[in-house]
Amino acid sequence: MTPLVLAEWPFILIALLFIPSFGLTASIACSNKEAADIVFALDSSFSIRKDDFKRQLGFIQAIVDQLEYGPNDYQVGVISFESDVILEIRLDQYKKKWDLRKAINKIKHMKNGTNTREALHFARTQMFTEAYGARSQAKKQLVIITDGLSENTTATVSEAAVARSVGIEIFSIAVGTGPAEDFEIHSIASKPKAYHVFKVGEFKALASIVDSVSSAACDQLLGDGPSALTKETVLPGKPDTEKAMRAYN
Ligand SMILES: *[C@@H]1O[C@H](CO)[C@@H](O)[C@H](O)[C@H]1NC(C)=O
Ligand SMILES: *[C@@H]1O[C@H](CO)[C@@H](O)[C@H](O)[C@H]1NC(C)=O
Repeated sequence: MTPLVLAEWPFILIALLFIPSFGLTASIACSNKEAADIVFALDSSFSIRKDDFKRQLGFIQAIVDQLEYGPNDYQVGVISFESDVILEIRLDQYKKKWDLRKAINKIKHMKNGTNTREALHFARTQMFTEAYGARSQAKKQLVIITDGLSENTTATVSEAAVARSVGIEIFSIAVGTGPAEDFEIHSIASKPKAYHVFKVGEFKALASIVDSVSSAACDQLLGDGPSALTKETVLPGKPDTEKAMRAYN
């Protein structure tokens, strides 16, 4: 990555915080789409506070609420990672969104290291395989949330490159991070970066990017890509989302 790109992306991120909801109502208008398997990788390391871990769960639930869920639409899986990777929810585990939501709520905070490489490896070699409920024809999307640097940036970045090379689209979400972490989280993500890298100052602020992340995932599916960034008017985020997230916890 060149310094020029690095200098540009704070502006891109500011723009992302204000991405409008692309004409969304309750669920994203992802109709006529291909089926997609989306896996969320949650940071479960010791650096995260209990409340903030809950906020991550609320964030996933809020995104799930926006997606058409089911065997011909979105399937949702969850892993959490610290020193180890924990399989929390298989892609085909729940038929009903309500049951999926309840299961997300029960995910436990493990409080150990930050093995992001292992999370990427596990996602590619296990979660996105048919043995784990993935559908071979479905688009593969991975949303990785982290508040810190992984244990080995070199290994993490190259593992992410392997995952992308087999067709896994990676969205990375950095929470309260500095330049070193930002470099890593940026290197992990798919291109265009403006559509795949999200940054917020604190876990509370995850609520402000629910619509942006769901829209980005959905738009990539529809093949609209980054053009959607410019074709819509800039609107403020939905103030209701934080309340909606709290309601789950
Ligand atoms: C954290 O992970 C390390 C390395 O895997 C292990 O040795 C240690 O016991 C773990 N600590 C806790 C509290 O689980
Ligand atoms: C980090 O990962 C790289 C590439 O896998 C490896 O060569 C290196 O030894 C690792 N560093 C540490 C400190 O484990």
